[in-house]
Amino acid sequence: MIIARSIDELRQALSASQRPAFVPTMGNLHAGHIKLVELAKPQGDCTVVSIFVNRLQFLPHEDFDSYPRTWEADCAKLQAAGCDVVFAPRETDLYPEAQTVKVHADPALGDILEGEFRPGFFTGVSTVVMKLFMSVFAGKAQGVAVFGKKDYQQLMVIRQMVRQFALPITVLGVDTCRAEDGLALSSRNGYLSERERAEALQLSLALRALGRDALAAADALASHLPALEAKAMTALSQRGWQTDYLTVRRRNDLQAPQAGDALVVLGAAKLGTTRLIDNFDI
Ligand code: PAF
Repeated sequence: MIIARSIDELRQALSASQRPAFVPTMGNLHAGHIKLVELAKPQGDCTVVSIFVNRLQFLPHEDFDSYPRTWEADCAKLQAAGCDVVFAPRETDLYPEAQTVKVHADPALGDILEGEFRPGFFTGVSTVVMKLFMSVFAGKAQGVAVFGKKDYQQLMVIRQMVRQFALPITVLGVDTCRAEDGLALSSRNGYLSERERAEALQLSLALRALGRDALAAADALASHLPALEAKAMTALSQRGWQTDYLTVRRRNDLQAPQAGDALVVLGAAKLGTTRLIDNFDI
């Protein structure tokens, strides 16, 4: 397994590859990341995983400094999963000067939900993903990039960026990996105390309950939805969560749904100091 620390080293490592298969990550790899790598592997002729904690997508009060960095363990897991190249640029290599040229997501998609509660988040994500894509795929006829569906809105933003910039990249979305009790795997789960870890499942239970309520009200969804969402948020808040949103949206653009639309239920809430997100198609 080659470790590339700069864009030049990465391009050198990929010089013989026609069709890289790429998994972007911020490290602290868990079983969900490894599943992405395993699914990526047969899609290309060289499997590349990036590990880069991207400052641009964190707000000043968020956990950029404390985000878990577990380099040795990550490399061991990637080696075992058959990764060919790890791209772990230093910050000064990916951003040698202030990144003043940025990619902004369509506000209709990027300024709602996660974008409303984490302003600038999707600009940070789109900018680094574009830069990672250019580092991995420049000069390649085709490539594949693999993302988890736990970050549902992120996957939609990336798909739209790839489509609108006509990048020669196929984007694959992979189902969320869950712990035995159903908690979505996330690097941030490591912040939870034992008591919080037991409670954390309540976010997905609240989303499933909201999903059931929405399906039961499907005939007059638009009129019932605000009350159903408010009920779900109140129930979670009463358990001590700080709830950003629990909502049912149209699956293809995350706008408010009408009867007959394919639906997704999404949520984000803070338990103590840990912010968790989850979603389900319903
Ligand atoms: O999902 C993540 O881990 C990050 O947002 C990503 C896509 C690696 C960009 O920093």
